Amino acid sequence: MKERIGIILLAVGLVNCHTNQAQPPAQTIQSVASFPFGAALSPVRLTNDAAYRQTVEREYSSITSENHLKMHHVHPEADRYDWQPGDVLVNFAAQTGKRMHGHALLWHEAVPDWVKNFSGDSLAWETLVRDHITTVVQHYKGRVAAWDVVNEAFLDDGTLRKSIWSEHLGPDYIARCFQYARQADPSVNLFYNDYGQEYSPRKLQAMLTMVADFRRRGIPINGLGLQMHTHINHPDEQIEKAIRQTAATGLLVHISELDVRVNPKGEANFTPSADHWQRQKAKFAAIVRAYRTQVPKNQQHGITTWNVGDADSWIPKFCKCTDYPLPFDKAYQKKPAYEGVLDGLR
Ligand code: XIL
Repeated sequence: MKERIGIILLAVGLVNCHTNQAQPPAQTIQSVASFPFGAALSPVRLTNDAAYRQTVEREYSSITSENHLKMHHVHPEADRYDWQPGDVLVNFAAQTGKRMHGHALLWHEAVPDWVKNFSGDSLAWETLVRDHITTVVQHYKGRVAAWDVVNEAFLDDGTLRKSIWSEHLGPDYIARCFQYARQADPSVNLFYNDYGQEYSPRKLQAMLTMVADFRRRGIPINGLGLQMHTHINHPDEQIEKAIRQTAATGLLVHISELDVRVNPKGEANFTPSADHWQRQKAKFAAIVRAYRTQVPKNQQHGITTWNVGDADSWIPKFCKCTDYPLPFDKAYQKKPAYEGVLDGLR
């Protein structure tokens, strides 16, 4: 009897051993992707939540600062910079061998109070912006691979957004911001980043016109960011077209803030059905596939999702509704959308 049990245990052991050896290592996004694939991160979650950190370490090869390199965080007072939260992300990237994408040097939101209250002539405003860009870019020189230099400067109709920056610096301010960033770091990649190119051909056209103008005048620019805050109903063809037209500039292309809402109308008491999850999976797959096939290899800066799990997403606060727009759920379990990402990468 004892012998029989021994043989059975041995057999079970052999089977286990065999299955262990036969199992391929679990695939991750970064192991399947042929280009950088990242997520925007919060330094607080990265420090305090082990599941968050492990998911990021395992899955992603690039990270973006979701908020902490924006002006009101990094430059809260005229004569004070706060590097600590940004450094958490930049150091994490360096320690884990991930690429760091800096977001964003100039935006019409996240403007600190001292800037809102600033009074000075156009030269004083120019100095303020030049000093900000120079100081931040120099601080992270060699540690940040790319910067979103200017974020969301155009409106959906393709005109220049009226903002604190356009008002005080004049209509050509975008070009000068790129020049200041280039002077501060000769080798960092410089991006213009905006949303809505997939539904607003005019805005995309404004970006393309800007790039052509920069080329004529010798203004430095390396890449364009398509934020791609989208939803399960948005037509694939429009997304693909925006990606293709952006790639036709020859610049680096970044899908920079990807999320896919399942509740685009912001319905109250919304509970996603299995069908919603499948459509979200299909949309992630289509976007990732379009990027992989439409952007030439040497222009693939990569794809970044806007944070990691559904609990971390900015969308519910923004739409004041319930939504679940990311590939991981609130407990960092993989959703069907995660499989959609892998499908698109293969
Ligand atoms: C958002 C962040 O995700 C939020 O946490 C913050 O409260 C507001 O900004 N376009 C951008 C991002 O370029 O910087 C925005 O990020 C989302 C829209």
